[in-house]
Amino acid sequence: MITVQQHIMREQKRFPGASGEFSFLLSGITLATKMIQAQVRRAGLTDVLGEHGDINVQGEIQQKLDVISNEALVHCLSARESIGVLASEENEEPMLVHKGSDEAKYAVVFDPLDGSSNIDVNVSVGTTFSILRKPDGVAMDNPEKWVLQPGSKQIAAGYVVYGSSTILVYSAGHGVHGFTLDPAIGAYVLSHENMTMPEQGKYYSVNEAYRDGFPARYGEYIDRLRSGVLGVNYSSRYIGSMVADFHRTLLKGGVFLYPPTNENSEGKLRLLYEANPVALLAEQAGGIALDGERRVMDIEPTSIHQRTPLVVGSRVEMSDFERFIQSKE
Ligand code: AHG
Ligand code: MN
Ligand code: MN
Repeated sequence: MITVQQHIMREQKRFPGASGEFSFLLSGITLATKMIQAQVRRAGLTDVLGEHGDINVQGEIQQKLDVISNEALVHCLSARESIGVLASEENEEPMLVHKGSDEAKYAVVFDPLDGSSNIDVNVSVGTTFSILRKPDGVAMDNPEKWVLQPGSKQIAAGYVVYGSSTILVYSAGHGVHGFTLDPAIGAYVLSHENMTMPEQGKYYSVNEAYRDGFPARYGEYIDRLRSGVLGVNYSSRYIGSMVADFHRTLLKGGVFLYPPTNENSEGKLRLLYEANPVALLAEQAGGIALDGERRVMDIEPTSIHQRTPLVVGSRVEMSDFERFIQSKE
């Protein structure tokens, strides 16, 4: 049995000069996500369902569990001396922690609870996170600069899905590994070592109700998948929690799309804490993640909560998407 802590310690040896700080940092994420899953599992029994009453920076109604999850992550990660900045979907501004400490050199960016419209109906939700190193020469008290880095600079990223089981999937740039929470012992245990995305899948995943609002080429690409030209009779799956939709895509292959829409010209998903972690994991697993044209991880962010269209999936579907889109230009 290998726990996530043991695995991280092993990985850490690859970083020259690394001490135990990185594993301690990640233990903040594992502890917080165990606290969140405990609340999610008991949600109908305690008073945590429903709306919190506030609107977050995205203009979306905060659910009580959004707030509880954010507090758990901020609480656990603030206790890690190696972290200097925390940025969350639920907070307008990034937070400066351990100001002035020389030890503080990492920033953690996260979506505390992804898929919150699914909380009240017992459907999978999750947490996504991305870890960045403070760039050289950036002032300690300029937290925006810590986190406005392209996804290619992530030193680790991952997510937890609170589904029929709780699973943590993470990569520090040396493959993708999955750890299932064993509720009997309260530890994340290695269950999926070196995850790779199948070359091709049989599902496409998109909110087809918005199709008339997508740029025409996206609709035409969906038609292409349905036409059978890729040799597969595609079926569709759409949960409405990006982490859960991506987790299926990682394990079973296929493609997940959140295109631009009439209402949101940049799509809905957030670059720093939704698209970037998923893009790192997809690439590490042999897949591809684009914003429709560019590699997601090459986008230079200009604001913390900026949105991006996202098309992510297996090599066959994504190579076809790239060819198809380019042929349209
Ligand atoms: P969040 O709950 O963190 O705001 O994210 C919800 C996101 C994402 O998880 C999902 O893919 C998408 O919203 C679903 O949106 P639609 O209902 O527009 O399809
Ligand atoms: Mn989200
Ligand atoms: Mn969220």
